[in-house]
Amino acid sequence: MKNLTEQEREKKFQERIDRGEIIEPKDWMPERYRSQLIRMMSQHAHSEIVGMLPEGNWITRAPSLKRKAVLLAKVQDEGGHGLYIYSGTETLNISREELVGEFLSGKAKYSSIFNYPTLTWADIGAIGWLVDGAAIVNQTALAKCSYGPYARAMVRICKEENFHHKQGYEILATLMKGTEGQKAMAQDAVNRWWWPSLMMFGPSDKDSPNSAELMRWKVKRFSNDDLRQRFIDRTVPQADNIGIKIPDPMLKFNETTSHYEYGPINWEEFYNVIKGNGICNRERMKARRAAHTDGRWVREAAEAYAKKQTAKGIEA
Ligand code: 3HC
Repeated sequence: MKNLTEQEREKKFQERIDRGEIIEPKDWMPERYRSQLIRMMSQHAHSEIVGMLPEGNWITRAPSLKRKAVLLAKVQDEGGHGLYIYSGTETLNISREELVGEFLSGKAKYSSIFNYPTLTWADIGAIGWLVDGAAIVNQTALAKCSYGPYARAMVRICKEENFHHKQGYEILATLMKGTEGQKAMAQDAVNRWWWPSLMMFGPSDKDSPNSAELMRWKVKRFSNDDLRQRFIDRTVPQADNIGIKIPDPMLKFNETTSHYEYGPINWEEFYNVIKGNGICNRERMKARRAAHTDGRWVREAAEAYAKKQTAKGIEA
């Protein structure tokens, strides 16, 4: 690629993408490709870490030791996913401090879904079934994205998401076999989490400023609306199986297209939440900033230990 103009380099890069080649950290890439990946991957990582908060709220309130142990494992997994994706983002020549700094300053986004409260135990079921179910659809596609470290991170994450999804669905299935009160609690949770879960896939394609470029570079393999539709098509039959009603009076199966048609999404709510005006935005950011401050001594101790090991010539 030596002595080529920027334009010729970009043309060769696009030819690599079009051939389905995987881009690795040491490969030449357009600056825009790099910055788009940093944006998308870091927001994904921020979301995983913030996503621990709504569920963490129920670890001490879980209805049994078994449920507590499962939820604890899930929340720990999410923390691991965040660290995994942060590490993948660092291969794009940006530091963890910069990434976390952008998040704590409010410059970087995290998924809107985590700005909703978890009001009852059934919410933990709805999150596992719907939120992790949506994540599986999104992340399975990302496992085929053109950037190697991101795609490979998704392989392990998707395996763990499947456990998250199943345990959430099993919580709701159990409640739907319970008392009238438990059934009502499960239905109420799904009523509150269904539409925000559809918003996880991003704005409709016509309003998505990043999609065209990300799809040209095969970072996104499918559009926001395509993945949303895929999630709806697989989730509605699961709701039917356990007697949960999807809170969308316009939902209907179209025999010709073999897809579910669905009602309008409240995009005003979506943009309001990502602007910071969701029910829990302030609470989530306050908790993350406090955790960062409280965790300073851990970071300093780890750095001091790593420096000492390096001084001794030992790989820390
Ligand atoms: N929440 C917050 N912001 C959102 C959003 C959402 N649900 N959907 C879109 N946005 C933002 C985008 O970040 C973009 O803003 P920016 O340019 O300032 O970053 C703007 O809205 C326009 O959206 P686009 O469709 O143009 O943006 P993208 O092409 O980046 O698509 C996306 C959005 C589908 C979320 C894509 O970024 C993506 O697939 N990201 C990776 C997956 C991810 O981040 N998932 C978040 C949930 S994490 C999770 O599910 C954890 C699991 O364990 C539960």
